[in-house]
Amino acid sequence: MGIVYHKSSKTFHLFNGEISYLMIVLENGHLGQLYFGKGMHDREDFSNLLELAPRAIAACPRLGDKVFSLEHVKQELPSYGSGDFRSPAVEIQQENGSRISDFQYQGYRIEPGKPKLAGLPATYVEDPGEAETLVVELKDQVTGMKAELSYTIFAQGGLLAKSVRYVNEGGEPVRLERAMSLCLDLPDCRYEWVQLSGAWARERHIIARKLAMGVQSIGSMRGSSSHHHNPFLVLKRPDATEEHGEAIGFSFVYSGNFLMQAEVDAHDSTRVLVGLHPDTFAWKLEPGESFQAPEAVMAYSCQGLNAMSQDFHRLYRTRLAKGYWRDRVRPILINNWEATYFDFTEEALLEIARKAAECGVELFVLDDGWFGKRSSEFAGLGDWVANKSRLPHGIAGLAERIEGLGMKFGLWFEPEMVNLDSDLYRSHPDWILEVPKRIKNHGRNQFVLDFSRAEVVDAIHGMMVKILREAKVSYIKWDMNRSITECYSKALPPDQQGEVFHRYILGVYELYRRLTEEFPHILFESCASGGGRFDPGMLYYAPQGWVSDDTDAVERMKIQYGTSLCYPISSLGAHVSVIPNHQVSRSTPFHTRANVAYFGTFGYELDLNSLTEEEIQEVKKQVSFMKEYRSILQFGTFYRLKSPFEGNEMSWMVVSPDKKTALVGWYRVLNQVNARFTRIPLAGLCPDFCYENSFDGSRHFGDELMGFGLITSDVTAGEVPPDRDPSCDFESRIYVLKAVEG
Ligand code: DGJ
Repeated sequence: MGIVYHKSSKTFHLFNGEISYLMIVLENGHLGQLYFGKGMHDREDFSNLLELAPRAIAACPRLGDKVFSLEHVKQELPSYGSGDFRSPAVEIQQENGSRISDFQYQGYRIEPGKPKLAGLPATYVEDPGEAETLVVELKDQVTGMKAELSYTIFAQGGLLAKSVRYVNEGGEPVRLERAMSLCLDLPDCRYEWVQLSGAWARERHIIARKLAMGVQSIGSMRGSSSHHHNPFLVLKRPDATEEHGEAIGFSFVYSGNFLMQAEVDAHDSTRVLVGLHPDTFAWKLEPGESFQAPEAVMAYSCQGLNAMSQDFHRLYRTRLAKGYWRDRVRPILINNWEATYFDFTEEALLEIARKAAECGVELFVLDDGWFGKRSSEFAGLGDWVANKSRLPHGIAGLAERIEGLGMKFGLWFEPEMVNLDSDLYRSHPDWILEVPKRIKNHGRNQFVLDFSRAEVVDAIHGMMVKILREAKVSYIKWDMNRSITECYSKALPPDQQGEVFHRYILGVYELYRRLTEEFPHILFESCASGGGRFDPGMLYYAPQGWVSDDTDAVERMKIQYGTSLCYPISSLGAHVSVIPNHQVSRSTPFHTRANVAYFGTFGYELDLNSLTEEEIQEVKKQVSFMKEYRSILQFGTFYRLKSPFEGNEMSWMVVSPDKKTALVGWYRVLNQVNARFTRIPLAGLCPDFCYENSFDGSRHFGDELMGFGLITSDVTAGEVPPDRDPSCDFESRIYVLKAVEG
């Protein structure tokens, strides 16, 4: 790994053997971009990669020269209005009304490791040898605005992290109206755009289409990263598959409004922009003040999507997630939400917990409804004090009793929200986000606290820590159940209202920071009506997140499969729930619900007392299976094998680091008869190891399992013999493969 600067050609080369990232100081002093992709030999001069030619009517800065034009050059910090007509990475509203800027190269520094980003979640290193960071300084002389562009190349993988910091070194205030974190100008547009999109209860479905001339984008203006579009994007070559071909993944380490777009111009070059959504962002910078834009991470792979995902998984699991729980297997939990909703007593909870303890479950989580006057959506949010009529011994007493059963205790909070019917709102009606004299929309009958204000964050922090100090709480589910509207802070002047969305998220991060530092042993799970804020920003504080409110096994196949494009399996909250399922009324076999949930942080979302004795025996087996294999499932190498978006079957697998054990999950949605033979070519095994298949005791070498494949045919192949039971809809199997002496 290294970063070099070639003085004669003014070229920067960041490389690690797998990838190269090349930039050049352009003849007009701007920072130009040359290349991002497969690693290349270093050379003194790569300026040929600029691909410049004289073009009719191009906007050019020098009379007599039609070749150098910002309209056609690849750039790192492009602005609009002075030659480049594509979407810009930066826009600065100045005192004289102009938005034109001209960021000139000033110098650079190279640092071992990776510096922290003030107040923001970001990837990190534990040893300076794991990465190297280049900081390039640019300056707009007219405004005095300085831009520091940071590029971190990691020793391992095709990964590059990028962020930008602005400092107003001028004498007048300016307004930063656009501060994108990443700009990548690719020399062609032969890509498919792949996004993770959906809605509440069907988050992160994989949607792919061909890149086309013009702008294509995803984003959020809901105040959270959203159920609708995840801050993640892939550009892959049309022929790229899970195992082969080129793909570039883009991920934004942020939990609020974002924009990711690709703009294909008239000459088929593609500009990718990733950053804060400019439509809901403006930041006033007084002289001397600075602004740090969040981090974006890119992963280049020439070995298909699985390799790209594995880079993200490794980085995010080990160098974004942090703290006590990062490398620890996650407890098997039971959550009472779908078992009781708001209708419970302490005794009813203990009944559920007792049965769970008997089955080997390790953590009992009390969800919504334990505080204030919370017996419905209409009251209580903001009053983080136990409801004594439901919980006569308070949270401390309940936690004590749960611990007495040999389990840990976890608790639900929704710190950012308030109901009108709450003591908090009655004493601080001015603490919510709302625009004076305008209607205020509710979402789920609740309102959003103004987390851009330190005193609001302090107050919620105070209530939460009181409980956490009194009671033995080992886990927190941090929920957030609405989009933000009327985003206006009564504590900020009119010319800073554009800052509220971002300041709000900074407030959320600050509360997370304080709580995770004060209670390092508490396991945090993020949640936002399921997966409405499932993003790398949250992953920094909470090593796992509730993937979706949809707990149906078939729906979960697509949701978890899509989520795995970027996020590690150890971060995917996945539970077994009852049938008929509460979201889609579907009845799937018990083992299939578990077989899907194993590929995540496993748990139950039901009242085990409602199960038959036979099912309880199955629960016990599932719990012990998960305990045996969870370190491989949560921390092994994950491969997608067969997409649920492309047919009736889905398959994925996890391989242990020593390749001696693998777990293959195979799932078929609808039953068939007289079907063809089926097999799944596996991945990641050692070709020379002979593996024994737990399902039927058969033995095969890794090369056969990866070449011909694992045979998954069952009774559905051909006619069902009279002595065999027909299969059923929603069938699934876990094949455990263990290396044995050939
Ligand atoms: C939404 C979450 O996603 C659910 O799991 C549950 O915690 C409810 N909120 C409680 O209100």
